Amino acid sequence: MGEKTILITGANGEIGHGLISHFAEHDGIKVVALDLNTLDEETRSKCYKTYTGDILDNRFLESLSTGHDFDVIYHLAALLSTRAERQPTIAHKVNVDGTMNLLEMAITQSRLQGKEVKLIYPSSIAVYGLPDAGAKGRAGKVGEDQWAEPRTMYGINKLYCERLGKYYMNFYRQLDAQPMEGKVDFRCVRFPGLISAVTLPTGGTSDFAPEMLHHAAKGETYNCFVREDTRIPFMAMPDGVSALLRLEAAPREKLSTQVYNVGSFSPSAAELKRYVLKAFPSASINFVPDLKRQAILDSWPADVDDSLARNDWGWKPEYDMARAFDEYLIPGVSKLYKK
Ligand code: SER
Repeated sequence: MGEKTILITGANGEIGHGLISHFAEHDGIKVVALDLNTLDEETRSKCYKTYTGDILDNRFLESLSTGHDFDVIYHLAALLSTRAERQPTIAHKVNVDGTMNLLEMAITQSRLQGKEVKLIYPSSIAVYGLPDAGAKGRAGKVGEDQWAEPRTMYGINKLYCERLGKYYMNFYRQLDAQPMEGKVDFRCVRFPGLISAVTLPTGGTSDFAPEMLHHAAKGETYNCFVREDTRIPFMAMPDGVSALLRLEAAPREKLSTQVYNVGSFSPSAAELKRYVLKAFPSASINFVPDLKRQAILDSWPADVDDSLARNDWGWKPEYDMARAFDEYLIPGVSKLYKK
C-alpha cells in the first residue's frame, strides 16, 4: 500500500490526540494536523505537518488544500454541548459552517485528485432528544432513526451535519447538466461519552465521568453535576479511536448507511463512582446536580442500539466497563498524576 495523507481537524482535542498517537505507530501515514491552538511539542513530533488555523477561515483552508493531497479527512473540530449552549452563535458557526467548509474541501480535493476523498465525522448521542427521564427509561436501546429530536445546539448541529454529509455524498449538485466530478465518501459514528486516561474534555455534558475519575486521581474533591441515577452510554478512548479507524477501513459496499451508533458500556453515575472508589478509596465524590445540565442528560438515551455497526463493519468494543477501568483508565490516570 502506498502512502496515505490524512488531515485531522481539531487535532488538539481528545480524539485527535488518540488518533495522532495511533497513526504515529504506523508507517506510510502522513498526518497533517490542524487546530486553533498550537499543538504541544510531543504531539507535533508525531505529525508530518501541523497548522494553527481556523476552519472558518476559507483562505487558510484553500492554501492548506493546495499544499496537500488528502486521502482521508477526520473532521473532529467542534464545540461540545455545554459550551455550545453558552455560545450558541459561535457553536453554530464552528460546528455547522466549519463542517460545510470541510465538505467543500473534500469535494475540491476529490475533483483535483480524480478519486473519492473520505470524510470521517464524529457525531454524538446528543442528536437524540427524549422528552423526559420516564420516556428515557422506557426507550431502552435507541436506534439511529429513533428519537432524533435534539434539545441542544450541539445536538442540532451534529444531526444537521450528518444530513449535510449524506447530502454531499448522494445529491450534491444534483441539478447540474454534467455529473459532478468530485465525490465525498462520508462516514459517521455517533459517539457516546468518551473517557480518556490522558486528557480531559472541555465543555461537554458527559464530562462528569472523566472529571470524577481525574479529580479522584489527583486527590481533589469532585462535586458531580448529575444525579446518581443518571445513565448514559460511555466508551473508553481506545475504542473511540478504533471505531473511527474501523469505519474508515470498511469496504464501501458493506455499508448500508452513512451514520452508525457505536456503544460500549452504560453505567449510572453511582456505578461510575463505585468503580472510581475501588481504585481511589479515599476519593471525595458528592452529587450536586445542576438541574439544567441534568435535563440535557435526561434527554440522552441510556443506551444505544449499535447492531448496524456490528453487522456492517464488525464493530465490537474491546473494553467493557471492568476492563476499561482496570486495564486502561486506572493505570493511565495513576501514571498521569504520579509525580
Ligand atoms: N461528549 C459530548 C458532550 O458532552 C457528547 O457527545 O457534549
